[in-house]
Formats: sequence, structure tokens, C-alpha cells
Amino acid sequence: MVFDQLSVVLAGLAILIAVGYTAQLTVKSDVDVDSLPWVGLKSGIFAGPRTRIGSLGTGVLATMEAGYRKYSASEISFILPRSDKSMVILPGSQVKWIADQADSVLSAQLAQRNSLLTDYVLLDPTMARNPIQEVIVRRNLTRSLGSLVEEIEEELAVGVAHYWGKDTDNWKEVGVFETMGKVVSRSSNRIFVGLSLCRNDEYLDSAEGFAGAVALSGTLLKLVPAMFQPLVAWIFVLPNRFHLYKASKYLIPFIQQRMKDLKEAEKTGIPRPDLNDYTTWHIKEVELDGIENTPPKIAKRIMTLNFAAIHTSTFTATNILFDIYASPMADTYVKEIREEVEQALSESGGKWDKNTIAKLIKTDSAVRESLRISSFMCTGMDRVVVDPHGATMSNGLHLPQGTRLGTSTYSIHHDDSIYENAITYDAFRFSRPREISTAAGKARIEGNGDKMQYSMKKEGLAKLLESKNLATVTTSDTFLSFGHGRHACPGRFFAATEMKLLVAYIMMNYDVKPLTIRPPNSFIAGSIIPPMKKTISVRRRKL
Ligand code: HEM
Repeated sequence: MVFDQLSVVLAGLAILIAVGYTAQLTVKSDVDVDSLPWVGLKSGIFAGPRTRIGSLGTGVLATMEAGYRKYSASEISFILPRSDKSMVILPGSQVKWIADQADSVLSAQLAQRNSLLTDYVLLDPTMARNPIQEVIVRRNLTRSLGSLVEEIEEELAVGVAHYWGKDTDNWKEVGVFETMGKVVSRSSNRIFVGLSLCRNDEYLDSAEGFAGAVALSGTLLKLVPAMFQPLVAWIFVLPNRFHLYKASKYLIPFIQQRMKDLKEAEKTGIPRPDLNDYTTWHIKEVELDGIENTPPKIAKRIMTLNFAAIHTSTFTATNILFDIYASPMADTYVKEIREEVEQALSESGGKWDKNTIAKLIKTDSAVRESLRISSFMCTGMDRVVVDPHGATMSNGLHLPQGTRLGTSTYSIHHDDSIYENAITYDAFRFSRPREISTAAGKARIEGNGDKMQYSMKKEGLAKLLESKNLATVTTSDTFLSFGHGRHACPGRFFAATEMKLLVAYIMMNYDVKPLTIRPPNSFIAGSIIPPMKKTISVRRRKL
């Protein structure tokens, strides 16, 4: 509570400093490329601060959409003012160019450090400068996913039942954002720290609190001029420290015990396949690293991971539920997803595993469609030119060192020339082509016998590979919710599995009253936030 009040005071302080500071600045000094057009620049008195402050609200979306229609459609880059540093928005055709650049030319890490102020808000600059957790997620988590499916499913089931209840007679009003936050924190932490901590409410509150405090403190601190940030950052990150301190009370003894257990297993030669979680992988990864191999440091890494995982997945789960249940097609979507889940489970003897999940192509499509239409960033693929010689795009445009650039994710996702009826939520948009190719292949086999099987196999395989580009985890220059290229979200394989299992569990075990309108998302500082207070009526199904 005291930290909520502190945040309000800090917000006031930050805005005061920011207004004073930005009044002296011209926004145009952010980008040193004279040939590019700007959008959304204000004129008249205090034009600079008004432009920057204006970019924090809903207005930024209309500005970006106008720029996209006017310039991106003609393959021209434009400059979008931001509250901190304005950004060159490249046309969609240049997304591949961004993805192809070496880290020594365009830096995703520096962009992340600048936009989140990770050196301060994560309480240890090495968290982002030496992101060991990313490597472990990319390698171990993705590789182990198959063996973790049952645990993820169990934790989601226990979590939803806990927060939504088991009453099969009466409807219950539940906060979507609030309950999805709790459910997702539990299931993510089941994989990060295992069963012993993932149901500990105090630890979970601290993990969620840390994730929220990191995002908020970064947004507020960015309003303070860079030269003053090192002096005042410590005040802004007090809530972050508090949540880390509270979580560490549980995390540090837990990590110490895990280190002992792993040493013991090594000594006795008796393997412990049950210790299959992020903490184990991390301890093994840093075993020989004198600086990293300490419980407090590992605890910070786990909290950093919670920051990357919790809000992204909570926003996504909230959007999925609102998008499905506020659609005029809600009944059809629910019916067809239920049939799909029943069929997949009946084929696997009721067991959840990698293959069962792979059969959920309609469910997968509903997840991807929400990520498309309700993506939570206006812009994406945030990068900074770090090559001292600058970077020259494939269309010849030269961007000097220090230029911030990215893509207009929202506009690309809502472009009718890319997605038919782009502003309409169409849950099975991505599964229809996959179903058609599968059905066509099946019909050909059945109709033409063995001789045709070979040619069908070749053709069917090609179609299958083609249709695979429509899966939630597949990024492209027109599907950017996880970014694209080398720095695309490494947690997306886990997140997609978690979201599909969550949708499947909710559909199979709950009735939800459809909504007449989709509660709108809001726009804050370039982020698109789902409604945090809206509720839905749920009732456990009698099975
Ligand atoms: C639906 C949920 C999620 C969404 C939409 C999402 C989205 C993103 C996006 C847009 C990026 C930036 C990519 C870029 O700069 O091009 C990112 C990076 C990252 N995400 Fe996720 N994420 C999600 C879940 C997760 C989870 C569950 C984890 C961890 C288990 C995770 C870990 C990370 C990490 C470590 C990075 C930094 C990667 C790098 O810079 O190379 N994310 N994510």
C-alpha cells in the first residue's frame, strides 16, 4: 500500500522534472536524418513537451496509423515522436532487414536497456547486459517443454479451479486480469521454481509485484532527464527492492537446498530427473562462474525471468478470453474448440503431451489471432544503430549511429491488405488454411490408393510446412507479437503451450457468459493494456 502511494508521489515528481526538462528540448534532435518525414509533431508554445507527453496516451496510435497509411504504404520510413526518444518506423518490407542485421550493427539489447532502463529497474545491470536467463530459456526450456506439459497443465487446472471456484450451480463474477495474473504466475513458476514455491502466495505476490514494479518504475524514471537518472533511480526502484527482498526470503533457501541436492546427486551418482526446472538448469549453467554462482544472484535472475514472463502472458490470457467471449461467434468458437480438445484427448487416452497439443490447431489459431489483433505493443522490434559507421538499409536509406528504429506492429497487424477484415476477431483465421490442407491430403489418400500416396506425401508435406507458418510460435514480417528474427521471444514456445492448455482447460471445465461488447484496451506509453478491472461470469460445468 505504502508503495502504491510512493508510486503516485514519484509519478508527480517525474512529470514535474520532465516538463521542466523537455521544455528546453526540441523533439527533432532525437533523430539526425533530415530526409525523413515526422508525424504527430505539435507546434506553438511548449511544442516539444506537448509532443512528448502526447505520445504517452491513446493519441500515439492515431498518429502511427496516419504515418503508416501515408508513408509505409509507399515504402517510406517516418519518424514517430516518443516520450523518451523518437523512433524511425520502417515499412513492413524492411522487417527482414532489421532481423538480418548483426548485433554489432543494430542492438536489441541496448534498445531494451534504454526503453526499460534495465540497468536500474532490474537492480543489477548484469541482468540485461549479460542475459544468461535468455540463453537458458532458449535452449533448456524449449528443449524440455515436451516433458513439462503435464506439470504445466496440472498447475493451470489447480490455479483456475482455485480462483474461479468449483460451484456447478451458481454463476460467479471473476476479475479476468486479476485471476489470469495469478494463474499464469503459478504455472510459470511451476516451471521456474517447482511445486514447493509455485503455490506459495507470498512468493507469488512478490513475483507479480516485482514484474509490475519493474515496468512502472522504468516508465516513470524515463521521464527524468538521463543525466539525473543515476542520482534519483534509487528512489524509483524502492518498490522493486521491496518485492525482491520478500521473494528472496523464499528463493534463497530454496536455491541453497537445490544446490545441495544437485551436489548430493552428483556425489552418489543417483540421477534426480525430478529436479527438472529452470532453477536446476540455471545452477548447472553457472556452476563454474564465480560471480553468478551465488543464491542471491540466481534469485535476481529468477525474478528477472518473472518480469519477462508474467505480464506478457497475463495480458495475452486476458485478451484471449475477452476476444473469444465478446465475439458474436463465441458459441461456435467454444463448441468447436471443445470438440477439438475432446477429439485430441480421446486419441491420446486422456493424456496431455506434446502430440496432443499439436492437434489443437483451432485453439492455437484462437491464441495467435488474439496476439495479432490485441498485441500489447504499438511498435515492435525496437533497435538502436550501434555501428559507428551507421546502418544503410536495403533501400539505400542511411541511419546514423544512435538512431532508434522499429516497426509499427499494431498497424501491420491491422492492415486489410495483409489480413482480410483485419479489425475483426476471427478465431479460426489461421486454422482454416491448415485444416483445408490436411483435409485435402486425407481425401487424396483415401480416393487414390497406394500409388498416389507417394505424390500426396510430397505435396501434403509441402502444404503442411506451408501451413505451419500459421502456428502461434511462428514469427514473420506480418506477425510480430513475439518480434521476429534472432531476438524473437525465446519464451514463446512455453507461452504458446501454456496459453493453449489454459484455453482448453477453461473451455472444457467452465461455462462463461458471453459479453455483448469487447471491453476496450487502453494505451499507455506505447503499450496496449487489456482492461484490468472488468469481470466475467463463470460457472463450473457439470461433467
Ligand atoms: C504470450 C507471451 C509473451 C509475449 C507476447 C512475448 C513477447 C516478447 C517480445 C515482443 C519480445 C521482444 C522481441 C524483439 O525484441 O524482437 C520478447 C523478448 C523476450 N521474451 Fe517474451 N513474450 C512472452 C512470454 C515470454 C515468456 C513466458 C518468457 C520466459 C519464459 C519470455 C522471455 C523473453 C526473453 C528472455 C526475451 C528477450 C529476448 C532477446 O532479447 O533476445 N517471454 N518477448
